Amino acid sequence: MPNISNKGMNMPESPIRKLVPFAESAKKNNIEVLHLNIGQPDIKPPNEVLKKIKNFDISTIEYTHSAGIESYRKGIANYYNNIGINVSYEDIIVTTGGSEALIFSLNSILDPGDEIIIPEPFYANYNGFAILSSVKVNPIISKIENRFKLPSSKEFEKLINPKTKAILICNPNNPTGYLYSQEEIHELAKIVKKHDIFLIVDEVYREFIYDENNHYSVLNELEIIENVIVIDSISKRYSMCGARIGCITSRNKNLIQTCLKFAQARLSPPTFGQLAAMEALKTKDIYFNNVIGEYEKRRDLLVSELNKIDGVYCPKPSGAFYCIAELPIDNADKFCQWILENYSINNKTIMMAPASGFYTKENMGKKQVRIAYVLNTEKIKLAISILKGGIKEYKRIQLKGSGIN
Ligand SMILES: Cc1ncc(COP(=O)(O)O)c(C=O)c1O
Repeated sequence: MPNISNKGMNMPESPIRKLVPFAESAKKNNIEVLHLNIGQPDIKPPNEVLKKIKNFDISTIEYTHSAGIESYRKGIANYYNNIGINVSYEDIIVTTGGSEALIFSLNSILDPGDEIIIPEPFYANYNGFAILSSVKVNPIISKIENRFKLPSSKEFEKLINPKTKAILICNPNNPTGYLYSQEEIHELAKIVKKHDIFLIVDEVYREFIYDENNHYSVLNELEIIENVIVIDSISKRYSMCGARIGCITSRNKNLIQTCLKFAQARLSPPTFGQLAAMEALKTKDIYFNNVIGEYEKRRDLLVSELNKIDGVYCPKPSGAFYCIAELPIDNADKFCQWILENYSINNKTIMMAPASGFYTKENMGKKQVRIAYVLNTEKIKLAISILKGGIKEYKRIQLKGSGIN
């Protein structure tokens, strides 16, 4: 049999999905699984978008321009202009989700063996995209005891070497929910300017900001406009994950031209998705106010209830719809599997993502889980009681020494 490539062999499985067989087997045993493990929102897309999809009036399903439908790109530019960011449609390439925007960006700025610095824990697929692009991730630790704030400039400087071509952050962050402040973005801008490297900021959760906070986009850093690449997507913004539409936004003309070559090789982003996305751009503020209000309610409930459980610590996130909690257990990978296989209340159990999958350094995040608050408050209450009971039972069994492997 011919061999599989090293790249293929080294491609990591998604840590978010590695417990799926255990969830499936729970479901076969008539246990309902509350999914706190994935970022698939239960929120409805805007009604107008659903209406548009039902009434698509097209006779052919053609490729679009490789950079995306021009009027849609103009619509995205207008969206940015409305939030005070001055970009033109020529600074935008429409992609098949934020995922493809990341792949094109990495391949446009890094050669095999080059390095990218990413604060960890980080969105696990960054690892997969790095392997796909043959580049090395140089992680820098952000700590739960500091609420996952940006590591100091000194720490970043220690990692920068001639192979370092970029820093990548996600703001607000998946998996931590941390919102980087204007000051933190300024600090990064200084480093990037000093070393003349790229700063990729994944802003796919830009709309989901809570309390009195505001999102500060790196596109406002006018001194480094040639260094900045923003990754964007409609997946979470309008709850349209399956439309598969994202974009790259950068005022670096060379970067855009290079990304366009990758875009031409894959011909076109999805035509249907773009048509739906064009409609989504008309979404009124009231939709976002409702959605953000709902997520904020869920976050408040989840975080306060988590912190009431003996030994649990969960910093309150300011954005996105994830949090990381440290649990009073020995190993979150083991615990998340155990709870799916062994613990339920009224035939309901929970699935969480062990946080180890969001770190590259060994033994980091061993006791942490990522919880996505993509379920309504009733389900979150239920999930918390299952978690609380599960921790108690898991510890009792361990104390008894009956052995959980
Ligand atoms: C941080 C982050 N970036 C990018 C993506 C990619 O999303 P999509 O390809 O659906 O736009 C996701 C999806 O969950 C994400 O969480």
